[in-house]
Amino acid sequence: MERKNISSAVIHRLPRYYRYLGELKDVGIERISSGELSKKMNVTASQIRQDLNNFGGFGQQGYGYNVEYLYDEIGKILGLNKSYNVIIIGAGNLGRAIANYSNFEKRGFVVKAIFDKNIELKGQTIRGAKVYHIDELEDYITNESVDIVALAIPKTQAGDVANILINHGVKAFWNFAHTDLDVPGDVVVENVHLSESLMRLSYNLAKKESEDK
Ligand code: NAI
Repeated sequence: MERKNISSAVIHRLPRYYRYLGELKDVGIERISSGELSKKMNVTASQIRQDLNNFGGFGQQGYGYNVEYLYDEIGKILGLNKSYNVIIIGAGNLGRAIANYSNFEKRGFVVKAIFDKNIELKGQTIRGAKVYHIDELEDYITNESVDIVALAIPKTQAGDVANILINHGVKAFWNFAHTDLDVPGDVVVENVHLSESLMRLSYNLAKKESEDK
């Protein structure tokens, strides 16, 4: 499948297509036109056609899109046709919330272990994943396969812990710490900052209020 030169804007929209198609599939809808999908998703039909054409175009003139096929293909593009071993660094409020959310596992992201520097947490289990002391991290990643590391520790700690993990071959970070990680080119980072999302919301709210005056 051709995946080169797909803009990050398109990649950004794919999870949303995937979610809508999953919902259609769940209620037994087998095919959908770009026009119908456009109404549901509030995206123009031409945008949908353009986006999906990036992947060779799964639609057929006069037939529309085969929901299950498109769902599966987008799943493959998003790398959801396999399972990922995830570990979480930080067993505080956020680390626990991530570990407790069972839907990640349904998508193939399986939380295998959690690490924290608080010795009192060692030995606990959170939804089946054991909490280890942070001193056990190097030993663990030397012996176990880890695909993704979620960083749910303070920003002052995140860089050092990430470096240890990178030196042991970790290639993907789901970074919740409020810092930009400095990583080599073969390592990918997805930053998730709820406060930035809130700031965009407050900006839009303020804009709306000034327009309504
Ligand atoms: P918390 O204080 O409940 O938990 C932090 C945990 O990290 C504690 O259990 C602590 O012992 C552990 N820890 C600290 N340094 C460590 C290290 N070097 N190695 C292993 N464990 C270590 O804090 P909370 O609410 O869970 O937040 C965690 C981090 O995530 C904070 O930095 C916070 O700013 C950030 N955060 C980010 C959000 C986002 O949207 N990106 C949302 C909420 C929190």
